Amino acid sequence: MADALISIMDDAAVRTVTVNRPDKLNALNRATLEALDTAFSAAAADPAVRVVVLTGAGPRAFVAGADIAEMNGLSAVQGRDFSLLGQRLMRRIERMPKPVIGKINGFALGGGLELAMACHLRVASETAKVGQPEINLGLMPGFGGSQRLLRLCGRAAALELCLLGTPITAARAAQLGIVTEVVPAAELDARVQALASQLASAAPLALRGILDAIHIGGECPLGEGLEYESVQFGLMFATEDMREGTSAFLARRPPVFQNR
Ligand code: COA
Repeated sequence: MADALISIMDDAAVRTVTVNRPDKLNALNRATLEALDTAFSAAAADPAVRVVVLTGAGPRAFVAGADIAEMNGLSAVQGRDFSLLGQRLMRRIERMPKPVIGKINGFALGGGLELAMACHLRVASETAKVGQPEINLGLMPGFGGSQRLLRLCGRAAALELCLLGTPITAARAAQLGIVTEVVPAAELDARVQALASQLASAAPLALRGILDAIHIGGECPLGEGLEYESVQFGLMFATEDMREGTSAFLARRPPVFQNR
C-alpha cells in the first residue's frame, strides 16, 4: 500500500492500482498524482509485475477529473506546474514497459479521461460516461487530453468533445475509438481479469517491443518507425522466449515464457 489515496493489490503477475477517493469520485489532486507516479514507477521496475490494471474505487467513477477544489486556488504558475505533474504521470503510464489496462468503471471525465487515454487498453462498463468537460469550468484539458484525443480519434471528435464538454456514453466512445471495448457493468471485472491473464502469460519482451514500436511509430515518420520495428524484431531473435514460442508452436504444445 503506497498511500491511502491509492490502493495496490497483486494477484500473481497482475497488479491492480486503484484511485481511492470515492467520496470525491476519485478526483486527482496533487498528492494523488504523486502517489500514482510513484506506484507506476515501482510497477515498471518490478519484474514480478507483468500487467497493470488501473481503476477507480467505488461504484460511480473511474476518475471524475482533476480536483476542482484544489485547482480553484492555484495561481498561473501553479496551474502550469499542476499540468506538468499530470502530464508526467500520463507519459509514464503511456511509456510503461508492460501493458496497462484501464478498467473504466464509471465517470472518466477531464483528467479521468486523460488518465484512461494513457492506458494501452481501455475496457469500459456500459454505464460509464467519458468526456473533457473542462470548458464548463472556464478551462481546457491540461493533462494531455487535447493531444491524445486528437491522436486517438481525430480532429473532429477531439474538437467536439473539448469544445462542447458534453460527456458521451461508453458505446459512443467505443465507436470513436476512445475505449477499446464496452461490457455490461456486471461483467467488467471478469473481462478485465481475462485480458490481464492473457497478457500476463504472453512474452514480456515481445510485449515491450510492441509497446515501444507503436508508441515511437506514433510520434515519428513512417520510414523511421519501420527502421525501429525491424531493429526490435531482430532483437527478439536474441530472446529465449522467441525460441520457446516458435518451438512450442512446432511441437504443438503451449509455450511457457520466462521473460528472458
Ligand atoms: N474535483 C473535485 N471534487 C469532485 C470532482 C472533481 N473533479 N468531481 C466530483 N467531485 C466531488 C463533488 O464535489 C462531491 O463532493 P461533496 O460531496 O464533498 O460535495 C462528490 O465528488 C460527489 O460529486 P457530485 O457532483 O455531488 O455527484 P453527482 O452525481 O451530482 O455528479 C458528476 C457527478 C461527475 C457529473 C459531477 O461530480 C461533475 O460534474 N464533476 C466534475 C467533472 C469535471 O468537470 N471534471 C473535469 C475537471 S478538470
